[in-house]
Amino acid sequence: MAVNLTSVLITGGAGFIGSNFVRFFLRRHGESEVINLDKLTYAGNLESLKDVEGNRHYHFYRGDISDGAFVRRLFNEWHFDAVVNFAAESHVDRSILGPQVFIDTNVRGTTTLLEAAREFGVEKFVQISTDEVYGSLGPTGKFTEATPYSPNSPYSASKTSADMLARAWWKTFGIPTVITRCSNNYGPYQFPEKFIPLMIINALQDKELPVYGDGKNVRDWIYVEDHCEAITAVLEKGVIGEVYNIGGGNEVENIELAKLILARLGKPESLLKFVADRPGHDRRYAMDSEKIERELGWKPKRSFEQGIEETIRWYVDNRKWWQRIVSGEYQKYYKLQYEERASWSNSKRG
Ligand code: NAD
Ligand code: DAU
Repeated sequence: MAVNLTSVLITGGAGFIGSNFVRFFLRRHGESEVINLDKLTYAGNLESLKDVEGNRHYHFYRGDISDGAFVRRLFNEWHFDAVVNFAAESHVDRSILGPQVFIDTNVRGTTTLLEAAREFGVEKFVQISTDEVYGSLGPTGKFTEATPYSPNSPYSASKTSADMLARAWWKTFGIPTVITRCSNNYGPYQFPEKFIPLMIINALQDKELPVYGDGKNVRDWIYVEDHCEAITAVLEKGVIGEVYNIGGGNEVENIELAKLILARLGKPESLLKFVADRPGHDRRYAMDSEKIERELGWKPKRSFEQGIEETIRWYVDNRKWWQRIVSGEYQKYYKLQYEERASWSNSKRG
């Protein structure tokens, strides 16, 4: 049955994937009312949404998804047909240094939204999850939707909890939840604490590129717009109660990726710096996206070569966007400092 998308709540719409999704969704569903609820933490940035600010179908509210009274007021005002929950603390390294806020937002915040959906009713609730709930792979194989949960970081444990809550609210209360689990995204507007923008921006500034451990960890990269298209397919026609894996099919070792970025920017490999490894660092991710391809007809469109080229170009052409972050008020959030990372070597490993 087709879902009504007259009024859609997008949480975390000022973040990396959320802002790309708001733009994508407004293009695809020009007559829907799009309500963006975002707390504007260090990772939320309204500069990423300048081009949709004037759209009469776009509405921004600053607020916390854990604030029950605020969330209920919003549901009461808009009578949402659907919710897409992006809002989260999203950085693994920060979850190692300070896990509490990950529980507050990713677990308590998701519960607050599910409870509001229960009280006011929605036709669909899409919980944006991650491949990190599956843990780590050896040299071969891929994660399927049937792979058991095995989270290794406070971040992935909090996202696993949110998945389980979404499932339980469907099984127990009949809230129409669907879960998407995606691999590593890259593209425009990604906060430069994450690997690809950090490497590009450091290279552009002739700064060291910090590579964790031996640099041989593997991530499966997907261009953010391909992820947005997959989420839209799930929103429009995904089966309630189901989980959909979304992957880019681009497995790359971190060290190879860092070298590729340096080469594209004409910078020397002497900028590479091997640093202390991330505790609990997952070795390899790879997604089997066969289910969403078969059932919903989605496939990623961007090749990795094209996507990385466009992404590097975007950071070269949009210095103003990231320079505000790496200097001034955002400086302390921009990248974990070497001293903070050094404390990792003291933490216990499993
Ligand atoms: P991000 O950190 O760039 O953005 C998160 C957004 O959520 C920010 O705008 C922030 O202000 C907002 N936010 C945080 N706490 C909030 C709260 N309590 N209330 C309201 N808003 C709040 O994250 P991202 O990389 O865009 O990831 C978005 C979602 O996608 C997350 O749920 C993440 O777990 C998931 N995900 C990310 C990736 C990836 O590679 N980035 C891959 C798979 C899944
Ligand atoms: O897989 C999906 C996940 O991808 C999302 O759920 C997370 O929200 C998102 O942050 C991302 O998590 P990762 O930990 O994989 O991404 P990150 O960019 O932090 O790191 C990518 C790889 O690069 C990882 O193996 C660690 C390594 N790394 C990272 C940083 C920031 C470095 O070697 N040096 C660095 O400075």
